[in-house]
Amino acid sequence: MEKISQSVVKKDHSPKMGGRSVYVADYNTAKNGDGILTGKILHSKVARARIRGVEVPTLPDGYYYVDAKDIPGDNNVNIVLDDMPVYCRDTVEYIGEAIGMVVGPDSKKVDRILSEIKVNYEELEPVLDLRTAKEAFFNYEYGHGDMDKAFAEADHVYEEEFETGYQEQTYLETQGMMAEPEEGGSMYVHGSMQCIYYVHGAVKRVLNCEPEGVHIFQDVTGGGFGGKEAFPSILATEVAVAAKKANAPVRCVFDRREDMEYTSKRHPSICRIRAAVKDGKVTALDCDVTFNAGAYSTLSAVVLQRGIIAAPGVYNVPNIHVTGRALKTNTSPCGAYRGFGAPQTFFAIEMMMDHIAQDLGVESLAFKEAHLAKQNDPTSTCGKYHFPVPVQDMINEVDKVCDYRKKKAEYSKPQTGRYRRGIGMSMIFHGAGFTGSGERDIIKAVTRLHKYADGRVEILASNGEIGQGVRTTFCKIVANELNLPLEKVFYDHPDTARVPDSGPTVASRSLMTVGELLRRASIKLREIWKDGEEQEVEERYRQPDFMIPFSLEKFEGDAYPTYAWAVNAIEVEVDTLTGVTKVLGAYGNFDVGTPMDYNIVMGQMEGGFLQGIGYSSIEKMDYDDKGRIRNNSFSDYLIPTTKDVPNMQCMLHVEKFPDGPYGAKGAGELPLVGVPGAYLEAVEQALGGCKKHKLNHVPFTAEDTLKELMKEAE
Ligand code: MOS
Repeated sequence: MEKISQSVVKKDHSPKMGGRSVYVADYNTAKNGDGILTGKILHSKVARARIRGVEVPTLPDGYYYVDAKDIPGDNNVNIVLDDMPVYCRDTVEYIGEAIGMVVGPDSKKVDRILSEIKVNYEELEPVLDLRTAKEAFFNYEYGHGDMDKAFAEADHVYEEEFETGYQEQTYLETQGMMAEPEEGGSMYVHGSMQCIYYVHGAVKRVLNCEPEGVHIFQDVTGGGFGGKEAFPSILATEVAVAAKKANAPVRCVFDRREDMEYTSKRHPSICRIRAAVKDGKVTALDCDVTFNAGAYSTLSAVVLQRGIIAAPGVYNVPNIHVTGRALKTNTSPCGAYRGFGAPQTFFAIEMMMDHIAQDLGVESLAFKEAHLAKQNDPTSTCGKYHFPVPVQDMINEVDKVCDYRKKKAEYSKPQTGRYRRGIGMSMIFHGAGFTGSGERDIIKAVTRLHKYADGRVEILASNGEIGQGVRTTFCKIVANELNLPLEKVFYDHPDTARVPDSGPTVASRSLMTVGELLRRASIKLREIWKDGEEQEVEERYRQPDFMIPFSLEKFEGDAYPTYAWAVNAIEVEVDTLTGVTKVLGAYGNFDVGTPMDYNIVMGQMEGGFLQGIGYSSIEKMDYDDKGRIRNNSFSDYLIPTTKDVPNMQCMLHVEKFPDGPYGAKGAGELPLVGVPGAYLEAVEQALGGCKKHKLNHVPFTAEDTLKELMKEAE
């Protein structure tokens, strides 16, 4: 193992384990010693309505009702398209939308006032069915080759539809934000978040002030998984407006039900794939991807982009046509969750390839292998796989660990007992870093290193620790390059008053992209290092020269500089009496380049892999015919717990990326992305294969299994 990969004690280990970390809910007083007012949101109770009026009872002294009329600037939360209001305009578009906020010193009184407010709704017909939804926030199309010819010449044409459900991030700490008016008139907003500069931009616009008028700080954050990418911008603007009106510190912390029902989750999806096959090979893929964006567009543009780029999978198919739409429904706006659109489409293509193989009567893995993209092959968007594609080697490594090929053959024989087994394999990539030209054109990351006279070095960047270890791994890179003990290098929680904008904590970009800037900054500092002096160096992002620039208009070029890769095998045993599926083995082979810390990376792999198993099997969330999410607690929305960790083996295959620090690539999202394909392929095999039971959706629950088996009895 390389020196940099050797694990250290995480920088935040001791305060977190010792219970000393201060989360936003933990502050007893504001920064200036003042008491903190509690803010609670008046959520819409209906999915779509015109608001005729809001009757607020007479408020006791020190209590406020805050709504859109109190916004000094623009009633728009700056995300991508800026259609999301801070507080609702004249209509509400989903259950949970913020109509206003009640603020006051006593949280029980705030609750009472909230319950006494009467909202006069003129109810409108909501759009709830993704299949009949019409309004597209985003619409993309790309492709290459000659589709008509490929389909005309095909021996077989296959067409199938795949569906995925919601997935809720279920971070341990719910969403929470606090705003404090500062001396000098600026607004200090801090809380649980991934992206301080996103929040900065949003609050600045809503308060209508100069950049100096807003000051954002990331408190200790109890998990994000994407769920704290965009939603904190919404909550931050809401509390900032309230704090402005009350001229006092205001904090709003969601309870679990609010968080599960009203905040962003993974987009439910429908993917239709048409495939042309000639001489045993897939010659064309036509993929149509639909995402349920919810009521406002928030992050759907970028989630959809990542999703459709992955639609043809890890395969090199000469003719490709992909369309993608993010449709509006009157439901909670969907957003980022680990994988960011790709788990949905990889699920579809992996199942499709497996089903075609089964229909052709050829071995599924061999069929997939025959189509694998290789180094220098074009990507789906006519970019290039510039670096080695290690998928075949990774498949062989997984096979070695779990005897995949042998088991696959064995389980394909007819099974009749109560317990039946299956095994499935998926192979996926995760585009490392922000999609498209985002790094070059939008983010333009800047980092600094500040050396103090006593020889300590502080990292100045905007990437937040959300449990992924960035406070530690950033320091390891700098310490390594400067040959300093790790204690001499530190990285505090980011504060917009102190750090430059090195971009958001998203897209598995922090370590690879910002970490590399820090490595280069360290080299600069090393070269000018003078003992006893205070010194500072800066480093800015530059797109690697080898990249084929991505054009969003043409949807063409290198969407990513490189890719992390994963091959997963899942082995299951289905109890045909109860429908319960037991995971006998989950084998994950992950290429994230050089691990910057073995334990941190393995923690990421195991955690993400388990989230993927939950997504595939038990994490079911849906809304009713009124648009209300029914699964709003941990008794109705099940996630895997420590008790549910199966026999899980994660391993690392290292294919170094020359433009990442010491060869590191993005890691955070990768382990979740491929699980649904492997899982459902395994369950389907246990049920007798796709000619008997063609499975096409996740989560695939015990009830779903029983429903399938009941078809046999009929
Ligand atoms: Mo992430 S899922 O790009 O916050």
